[in-house]
Amino acid sequence: TREPICPVRYISNRSSGKMGYALAEAALNAGARTTLISGPVHLEPPSGATLLQVETTEEMLAASQAAAETADIFIGAAAVVDFKPTSVSDTKIKREGVATTTLDLVPNPDIIASIANSSPRPALVVGFAAETNDVETYAREKLRGKSLDFIFANDVSNTAIGFDSEYNAGVLISAESETPMQVSSKRVLAETIIEALSKQLS
Ligand code: PMT
Repeated sequence: TREPICPVRYISNRSSGKMGYALAEAALNAGARTTLISGPVHLEPPSGATLLQVETTEEMLAASQAAAETADIFIGAAAVVDFKPTSVSDTKIKREGVATTTLDLVPNPDIIASIANSSPRPALVVGFAAETNDVETYAREKLRGKSLDFIFANDVSNTAIGFDSEYNAGVLISAESETPMQVSSKRVLAETIIEALSKQLS
């Protein structure tokens, strides 16, 4: 997601959307009716998916809540911007004469936690944990704290995988299981994750 600061600047992060798009494609190939809720990315959406394009976290929250009402599985692979400016300037913020400046931020809503704690909720709510250290420990905390059924823990300190790479690796964790997944293309990894979730659902 993106959070505007003024008409020419925004807060975002290094996510390319490749993991999310690979998951949507794998879900379609597995025969699922698929809704892809996407922030601004430079990727071709898989044909057959319903594409909902959003920009901010609030927009992604609204689209996710609507789509989750009829979904069996909700997967949150988006790198959601956690904080947004308290106010957005209508005009370009000028640098002239400014020695230092501050930006006041407020936390954004937690999309996946709101889906997992809604009633009724999708049978499986699956998150991703982007961590740089103590990856599995923090992922387990997010699994419990956000009431998720599964979380895929990936180490984003490794620039060969994760953000913007064609590859990823990690561990698919639930309360009862832990499935390590070796480095592979995001396409192959997405197929493995979707297969594991399909088995769990059936
Ligand atoms: O997009 P790519 O370049 O392919 O990179 C893939 C990836 C590294 C972005 C992906 O594999 C990944 O790790 N996605 C999750 C990124 C993230 O925001 O992780 P987190 O640990 O901060 O959040 C945990 C979970 O909560 C995630 O499912 C996230 O979507 C969700 N979340 C977080 C904050 C928030 N306000 N709302 C949320 O729903």
